[in-house]
Amino acid sequence: MKNIKAIIFDAYGTLFDVNSAAEKCKDKIGDKWESFANYWRTTQLEYTWLRSLMNRHKDFWQITEDSLDKSIKAFNIDPSMKDELLNLYKVLSPFKEVPEVLKTLKEKKFKLAILSNGTPTLLSELVKSNKLDNLFDDLFSIEQVGIYKPDSKVYDLPIKRYGIEKNEIAFLSANTWDVSGGGNYGYNSIWVNRNKNVFDNLDYKPIHEIKDLSELLNII
Ligand code: LAC
Repeated sequence: MKNIKAIIFDAYGTLFDVNSAAEKCKDKIGDKWESFANYWRTTQLEYTWLRSLMNRHKDFWQITEDSLDKSIKAFNIDPSMKDELLNLYKVLSPFKEVPEVLKTLKEKKFKLAILSNGTPTLLSELVKSNKLDNLFDDLFSIEQVGIYKPDSKVYDLPIKRYGIEKNEIAFLSANTWDVSGGGNYGYNSIWVNRNKNVFDNLDYKPIHEIKDLSELLNII
């Protein structure tokens, strides 16, 4: 971890709280808001993997809408809430420590970037709406390669852009499968385990496990 030149972050679930859209509607959705949010997220991710395997790409915004449609039916939610939930998804909140940690890392002169399933427009709106846009050198989107994580073409993007070695990257994700994807590819993958989850058995164990991004400052 001494020769790290670039710190690359997953976006959804790692920097930004994917449950915050449904949480902001919890008065209307009721007690089931969290199960509904988890179902929406799981379905969304399954659709990314399935579409990559079927070779039938749709961008992340379309997948977010398709998975929301299924989740609204599955949880018997008022369909008129769809637009409100989608609009909230465009301006998800960051986890509370994120802005300060990014500022500190920027001062230490690391290259900072997002590497995400999100479309270029979604990612730039997300960082702008949270006033984080001046902190990132790049927002890498899987749309540049047309296939979802964990395809290795996605993890190639920062390597090609910066002309550095895989082990000069620290990659952070809260998504266990994404930590495994980046780690198997050759990154130093760090797991942001915010909710005391259990790690996967996918041929890689994270080089570090942290409970939020502030702990990154002790190891980098
Ligand atoms: C992303 C998903 C995996 O931002 O959270 O790529």
